[in-house]
Amino acid sequence: MSAPRIAIVGATGAVGHEFLRVLAEREFSMGSIKLLASPRSAGQKLTFRGEQHVVQALADDSFGDVDVVFFSAGGEISRKFAPKAVDAGAVVIDNSSAFRMQHDVPLVVPEVNRAALAGHQGIIANPNCSTIILVLALQPLHQAVGLRSVVVSTYQAASGAGQRAMDELHRATRAVLAGEQPPKPDALAQSLAFNLFPHVDVFMPDGFTREEDKMLFEVQKILALPELKVDATCVRVPVARCHSESVQVHLQRELSVADAQQLFAATPGLELLDDPANARYPMPIEYAGRDEVAVGRVRRGRVFEPGLTFWLVGDQLKKGAALNAVQIAEAL
Ligand code: A2P
Repeated sequence: MSAPRIAIVGATGAVGHEFLRVLAEREFSMGSIKLLASPRSAGQKLTFRGEQHVVQALADDSFGDVDVVFFSAGGEISRKFAPKAVDAGAVVIDNSSAFRMQHDVPLVVPEVNRAALAGHQGIIANPNCSTIILVLALQPLHQAVGLRSVVVSTYQAASGAGQRAMDELHRATRAVLAGEQPPKPDALAQSLAFNLFPHVDVFMPDGFTREEDKMLFEVQKILALPELKVDATCVRVPVARCHSESVQVHLQRELSVADAQQLFAATPGLELLDDPANARYPMPIEYAGRDEVAVGRVRRGRVFEPGLTFWLVGDQLKKGAALNAVQIAEAL
């Protein structure tokens, strides 16, 4: 097959920019690249591999001359335009939640369930960013000793809510530092300057948020463990980039801390950084821009028997979004 012609829907957004960086970094072989966004951005120029490309307004007929389309402009845009791209003969890799739970749409983290790609019908879903980071660590445990249940708390960066949320965090922080009242939040649920809040996506009738539901249902689908229980609390924190997660797993069989560390260190996509005596553990500031998801603070659980407690950090714009989607395209 000749090098695929690529399009990015949402090219001007936080994940869109990351797509351009990742495609360049990995020297992704492509015939052409088409950058699509809302009519507001039409005519804007973005640099890719040293050349300027003009952003075009997304339209029904945007997909006639492309083979692979990365969508990252929200669920509504994906729902409306992804089927049009498939009808035009392209393969869609969708970063939104629109199709993730559809049974005929593979939900893929290539290091974990690459085989699921085989059955795709034109649309492949990229999982939620917090889910991608979590399943990379759950998969080796599941394979080695089996999982019973998972309790996870996330510490999610502002950029996970898009470029506008990141701008909002900067503006609010400047205001507080200047002794002023932060502006009313718009992209985020609350002002994030010198604050955090347990509210990512909307609340569901049972008191969990939709983000917390995604972590349950998407982990079940990716690991093919429909009975696995995942109790998540998702928190937005005033960090620019990289999500962190505190994880407690209840295992089927005993696994020592040393064996778990060895497993993690040998897992593609994961990096072990676990030297607390020297204050070495994963932090967002060190993993921003990195491909690997980092795991540290691995210890024997005190609540679940047998169980483990550990800490994860991953760049949610990179492995949690653009990189994972590009790896799916590479796997195809
Ligand atoms: P635009 O910059 O023109 O608004 P983020 O997640 O960082 O907020 O980015 C959202 C992305 O989705 C942006 O590239 C944005 O383009 C794009 N987008 C938003 N609304 C539309 C739309 N109606 N049609 C196409 N792209 C859209």
